[in-house]
Amino acid sequence: MSELNKIALKIIANGKGILAADESTGTMTKRLESVNVESTSKNRLLFRETLFSSAGMKSYVGGVILYDETIKQSASSGKKIPELISSSGAVPGIKVDTGAKTLANSPEEKITEGLDGLRERLKEYYKLGARFAKWRGVYIISKNYPSKLSIYSNAHALARYAALVQESGMVPIVEPEVLMEGNHTSEDCFKKTSEVIKKCYDQLDLQKVELKGTILKPNMILPGQNSDEKIDTKKVAELTIKCLKESVPSEVPGIAFLSGGQTEKEAAKNLNQININNNTNFIMTYSYGRALQQSALKFWSKDLSNIKGTQEVFNHRAKMCSLASQGKWTEEIEKV
Ligand code: 13P
Repeated sequence: MSELNKIALKIIANGKGILAADESTGTMTKRLESVNVESTSKNRLLFRETLFSSAGMKSYVGGVILYDETIKQSASSGKKIPELISSSGAVPGIKVDTGAKTLANSPEEKITEGLDGLRERLKEYYKLGARFAKWRGVYIISKNYPSKLSIYSNAHALARYAALVQESGMVPIVEPEVLMEGNHTSEDCFKKTSEVIKKCYDQLDLQKVELKGTILKPNMILPGQNSDEKIDTKKVAELTIKCLKESVPSEVPGIAFLSGGQTEKEAAKNLNQININNNTNFIMTYSYGRALQQSALKFWSKDLSNIKGTQEVFNHRAKMCSLASQGKWTEEIEKV
């Protein structure tokens, strides 16, 4: 277990965080098409290896979550992608769920699938160099949602996944994401997220998962995207810390937030305030997809051969997130 704890700390400690580059081919296609780049296997690889070979990787990124396609690819240098990531000092990780499907008897909600054959897939990913894994449960918020059925079913799946991942010698990232879509208040988000996270830990306990060898990847506490509520960063930090303090057992070494639709700047600013206020023993860092890649993707889309320029944009973003994970981010540094 101390081995898994060491891996977890390598990923999230010392001002580092996670680059979530595990978009499924469907999601990555949407991201590329939004900037008018054709979604070919070659283009998906080129963008990703541009980020993975940037200078920012060494200083700011402790782990990279990959998708099945990417973990099996090689960079233009000939280096295998997991080797490229390890050579920068970061830990290669892998998304192992197979997506969120309609939940039977509650068709507006989703249940994440991927447990069948997971033990065998984990063995293969370990051989390919992965040392941590990710599984995301998703929950909608409205008056009657998430339902008890969704809260229980997703927690059960997350816990069974986590047990199998530890058995295979890897660190499970437990990601219960309460979505930002909707017009709910921050108070609603606080209540539902707390309920969701508590149920996850009930189930992780039942499945005998060693919490020291795990990382939690939650959403921050925010009002819904269509809510009229105005919230400042201090309130986000206060509610987020309160929720985690009350819901997460102290053995968990750290928390790596998802960005979930926040802008790059909001995601940095809120994480920074969380770290300024952090009165827990949890490391609080980032596991961002969009909030680390958006500007770099936009820049790259204008000239796919401008590797150096794209890397500079990514380096800045990664540095902002790293500073935020230490409570050292400022508006002035953001603008540089
Ligand atoms: P975002 O930071 O874009 O929400 O993505 C993180 C992630 O891995 C979602 O599963």
